[in-house]
Amino acid sequence: MILELDSVSKRYGKVEAMKEFSLSVSEGERFAILGPNGAGKTTSISMIATLLRPDSGSIRVSGHDVQKERKRVRGLIGLGPQDVGLYPSFSAIENLKYFGHLHGLRGAELERRIGEVLEIAGLVDEAKKRVLQYSGRMRRRLNLAVGLLHRPALLLLDEPTAGVDPQSRNRIIEDLRAINQSTGMTIVYTTHYMEEVETLCDRVAIIDHGELVVCDRVANLLRSLGTAVILARVTAGSERLVDAIRGQIGARQLSASDGLLQLGVDNARDALPELLRLADCVGATVEDIQVRKPSLEQVFLSLTGRGLRD
Ligand SMILES: Nc1ncnc2c1ncn2[C@@H]1O[C@H](COP(=O)(O)OP(=O)(O)O)[C@@H](O)[C@H]1O
Ligand SMILES: [Mg+2]
Repeated sequence: MILELDSVSKRYGKVEAMKEFSLSVSEGERFAILGPNGAGKTTSISMIATLLRPDSGSIRVSGHDVQKERKRVRGLIGLGPQDVGLYPSFSAIENLKYFGHLHGLRGAELERRIGEVLEIAGLVDEAKKRVLQYSGRMRRRLNLAVGLLHRPALLLLDEPTAGVDPQSRNRIIEDLRAINQSTGMTIVYTTHYMEEVETLCDRVAIIDHGELVVCDRVANLLRSLGTAVILARVTAGSERLVDAIRGQIGARQLSASDGLLQLGVDNARDALPELLRLADCVGATVEDIQVRKPSLEQVFLSLTGRGLRD
């Protein structure tokens, strides 16, 4: 295991930011920590990155304790793309040389590493350009390249796609996938975008209010809802309808909040008319009905009873 959290807790005064998190990540995985704002994502990633101490529990990176072997762990992780303060009038190569020196890298070894990270970041052709001529994406990639100079085994990113437009988000996701595929580097990153996790990650830890709700393969979570999810807006008689469904439709998952009924089923073709018939029977009013492919959004709703707030 490249990363192991064992019953990790952290509180800020009265706020329990992490309650006994236990999870492990294998080498080469693309792993997401997914949760709404305030769930504990930054706290989790900061602790893994040795920037914050757990109150209790332990975290190990490749078997090394983040607290007892902080220096060793720092050599194993890359944090990116954090804003490292690039020098705009220097080229990418010059910037990388500067940061390489800070890592104690010199000579041929430094040259080799610079070539390597430029390749990974897809900046080989632009390497001699001054950074002030770079687009936002290129700067982000260069930042990432700086974070990879010491050849980390584990890349940690805290909400790399938050607050960027959808197109840039997709590019960042593509970049992360490419890095993972070309180097085998393990990626652990946080996000509150569920679709992203579905496309990028093997496994996900869903967290909410400092609690680990579930940690599983994305495919397993989606499968747990059946082959389709029926979403129905019920304006009257929602409780009666829920009771009736419990008794009569073979739903894999059923939840209701704020008049929104969610039903995971194996056969939407049979379940849909059955649902409408039951609504008629119990006098419930269904105003809007949709059939969707199972998604993490619905997994979250089914596990927490709430939608994932933005
Ligand atoms: N330095 C701090 N002092 C007090 N409370 C904090 C501090 N940092 C985070 N919190 C609280 O801890 C909880 C988790 O925060 P955080 O890890 O930043 O969540 P996320 O990154 O998922 O939005 C939130 O309720 C937040 O308000
Ligand atoms: Mg955060």
